[in-house]
Parts: sequence; structure tokens; C-alpha cells
Amino acid sequence: MHEMRRQMAGRNALRAGVCSLVVIAAAIGLPQIGLPATPPAAVPAEFKKGEAAFNANCARCHGERGVGTSQGPPLVHKIYEPNHHGDAAFQRAAALGVRAHHWQFGDMPKISTVPAAEVDEIIKYVRWLQRQAGIF
Ligand code: HEC
Repeated sequence: MHEMRRQMAGRNALRAGVCSLVVIAAAIGLPQIGLPATPPAAVPAEFKKGEAAFNANCARCHGERGVGTSQGPPLVHKIYEPNHHGDAAFQRAAALGVRAHHWQFGDMPKISTVPAAEVDEIIKYVRWLQRQAGIF
């Protein structure tokens, strides 16, 4: 009887030990699991203005760093390389909106609160992101 109780106490202690190990492993290990092998390049100062404008006006659909969301396509994508969608296509998209034609996300509404000069900054930022991804 005593022997059994001692065994159970030992097992509980072991279980508690394993549990806290799991908790510690989760606390230390999990934040590292999601990180890509090479962190994305820091945004150069000259593109910071465009980055801020992009994040404020475009990222809710096109995703931070232009990777896309459930609301809109990635702009860092071969379809949007400068030869296929030139800078004018970006100005047009912001000023007039876009009728869905490449994807299944629906139409893009016009983003008329962003002045053309700011769209220019956004374009420079997106082109930089594209170059980082090997899209020219
Ligand atoms: C409400 C969501 C939404 C927002 C906000 C948004 N877009 Fe879009 N955008 C879309 C969707 C959806 C498409 C894809 C349409 C299609 O199927 O081709 C698109 C397409 C585009 C295209 C491709 C145009 C073309 O000629 O095919 C460009 C360029 C673009 N967006 C730029 C921007 C910029 C710049 C901003 C911020 C100023 C922005 N978008 C904000 C949803 C959005």
C-alpha cells in the first residue's frame, strides 16, 4: 500500500516535471518556429515613406510587404512585374479601382484618399519589394 502510494507520488512528480518542461519548451521554442531562415531585408530609408503609405492604404488587402491576404492578391508576384503592370497601372488602380480579372478576390475599390505623389512612393516601395523577390 505504502509502496503503491510512493510509486504514484513519483509518477505525479514525473508528470508535473514533464509538463513544466513542455511549458518551458513552448515558451522558449515557439516564437522561433515561425521565423523564416533568413529574415527579410530591412527597408532602406528611401522607401520608408512608401512603406508607411502602403501599410496605411493597401496592406489590409495586399498584405504587409505585399504578400497578399484573403482580401487581395500579392503585388510581389510575377503578374505585377514592371513590364506587365507598369507604374501607370498602380496609379490607375488607386484612382479608379480595379475590376477583378486576374483573381477571385472581387473588385478593388478606388483608394481616392491617396494623392498621386503618395502612390508614386508606394510604387517605389513595391518595386523594391519585387526586386528583393527577384521580380524585375
Ligand atoms: C479592399 C482591398 C484592396 C485595397 C485596400 C487595395 N487593393 Fe489593390 N487590388 C485588390 C484586388 C482584389 C485586386 C485584384 C483584382 C484582379 O482580380 O485582378 C487588386 C489589384 C491591384 C493592382 C493590379 C491592377 C491591374 O491593373 O490589374 C494594383 C496595381 C493594386 N491593386 C494596387 C493597390 C494599391 C497601390 C493600393 C493602395 C493604395 C491597393 N491596391 C489597395 C484589392 C485591394
